[in-house]
Amino acid sequence: MCGIVGAIGYETTTEILLKGLERLEYRGYDSAGLYINDQTGHDYLVKTVGKIATLKSAVKPTVQGSLGIAHTRWATHGQPSEANAHPQFSTSQRFYLVHNGVINNFTALKQQYLADTHFASQTDTEVLVQLIAKFVEQEQLTTLAALQKTLQLVNGSYALILVDRDQPDQLYIAKNKSPLLIGLGEQGNVVTSDALATYDLTDQYLELHDQEIAAVSADQVQLLTLQGASQTRQPITITVTDGEVSKGTYPTYMLKEIDEQPAVMRRISQKYLTAAGEPQIDPNLLTALAQADRLYFVAAGTSYHASLVGKRLFEKFTQIPVEVGVASEFGYHWPILAQHPFFIFLSQSGETADSRQVLIEAKRRGLPTLVITNVTNSTLARESDFHLDLYAGPEIAVASTKAYTAQIAVEAVLAKALGTYLKLPAAEEWSLQTQLGLAANGMETLVDNKQGWSDLANNFLGASQDAFYLGRGIDYDVSLEAALKLKEISYVHTEGFAAGELKHGTIALIEENVPVITFITEASTAGHTRGNVQEVLARGAQVLVIASEDCQQADDQIVLPQLTPELMPLLTGVCGQLLAYYATLQRGLNVDQPRNLAKSVTVE
Ligand code: G6P
Repeated sequence: MCGIVGAIGYETTTEILLKGLERLEYRGYDSAGLYINDQTGHDYLVKTVGKIATLKSAVKPTVQGSLGIAHTRWATHGQPSEANAHPQFSTSQRFYLVHNGVINNFTALKQQYLADTHFASQTDTEVLVQLIAKFVEQEQLTTLAALQKTLQLVNGSYALILVDRDQPDQLYIAKNKSPLLIGLGEQGNVVTSDALATYDLTDQYLELHDQEIAAVSADQVQLLTLQGASQTRQPITITVTDGEVSKGTYPTYMLKEIDEQPAVMRRISQKYLTAAGEPQIDPNLLTALAQADRLYFVAAGTSYHASLVGKRLFEKFTQIPVEVGVASEFGYHWPILAQHPFFIFLSQSGETADSRQVLIEAKRRGLPTLVITNVTNSTLARESDFHLDLYAGPEIAVASTKAYTAQIAVEAVLAKALGTYLKLPAAEEWSLQTQLGLAANGMETLVDNKQGWSDLANNFLGASQDAFYLGRGIDYDVSLEAALKLKEISYVHTEGFAAGELKHGTIALIEENVPVITFITEASTAGHTRGNVQEVLARGAQVLVIASEDCQQADDQIVLPQLTPELMPLLTGVCGQLLAYYATLQRGLNVDQPRNLAKSVTVE
């Protein structure tokens, strides 16, 4: 949700910023901008509406300097426009600021302190930069003191970089809730929302904690609390490799990431299972989980759908009841908790603000927490009692694919480990190694059949602006995810349904040629779902059946190898991804960067 990058001390600031923004584009891409200062009295501000490519072509060769800040935006306050794009600047044009987050009390601040100020944008961010300018220009505070004073008045989230034109050898930065890192380079220093943006400049990063400020020069970092107390912190190493972030020969990141799933399954086996196939999980985590009388899974979007699968895995293999909550709901409507609750957060990015607010409250209540995430150094990973990595490698396409299947695989590892720890026969006898191996092979067959998926997408989803996904039990969980995948990238209106629920209302929408994609992988409910298929066929729907070996019938279009039912989403999920991918490609849309979405959602 907005990406920021800054650099100081480098000769190639413009290139660093533009390359950084391209790598942060997954965080938002409706407008972008940069400010560069050459420290000899020349500075440049360039802002454009649209993607980074547009900004790149608007930046002239003369735009060079050794200090710069840049931003890619996902609009919250004010439509995407040049005026609303960042950097925002003070009326005096002395202060420039890029910001990721939301200032909740910006209207009140404006009324109280800035009634006479002319605002050039509709953003909450401009209030910050105008306030800082006011405190410096009218109250003669230093820039650092003005920043401190401003942030003490603010209620909201921010990761920001401020430049004072009169001090072009400093970047002032601050963080609360939204992520921010300082990269320590050889030639200079960088500031970024994500190490992905600057991985070729350094692997040494200082993390800013909430309500901290820093003054960053080319060779120094001064770290302070908002109240001015000096802080010291050791850098951490964050390594990202070229191969992980480049598309290579793939046309899109999404296709690359779909294709990587068999390798991710094998990596998870390798990282979490011994040669004998036994799960290796921190014994302290297992002890803490074993004390729980109820597990609470909390997540958003695709991670929420993976949590639904987690419920089935944990209830089957550990016999501990599980509740699953949408983070943005859970945080404001806490259920009556069990006596010994344990909280599990699933988050690809480890930054989702909706999930974080629940984590913070769980910690405040003294409850044990685990985060399962793809980003080891993310905020959620840092702040939870325990964390488990997904080992999926960076996921760049906005629509989540390999992180979803990795989440399910890691949930399975943990459920197996806990069930075995609790000496439950269902878990002890289950060979996860075999299951993950079968899943990887099954995924390989699916992704190798690209022409087949392209044809299916064309035949079933080519003409329609509506699509329904049906399934029962675990297949219902996948229906929700498959429907989300298609709607988020193709803009086709989709619904995922519990197959039996369709006849209680939604069947009214079924008409001639409406596509209905049906998952049938659970023998115990297959007969009923087949009945639902007949009901929609009778009303003219075009039905695509994706069944498992144990449930297959002669005319089914796709038959998948049979896994433990709770792991079938590892294969049915990939089918949903491939259908969505090709349906979107055939519509000529941008698969990796769908409209209105962002990958890392750092506002509530
Ligand atoms: C955004 C992304 C989704 C993702 C959701 C939760 O909405 O577009 O793909 O599933 O956030 O993100 P998380 O990083 O917590 O899994």
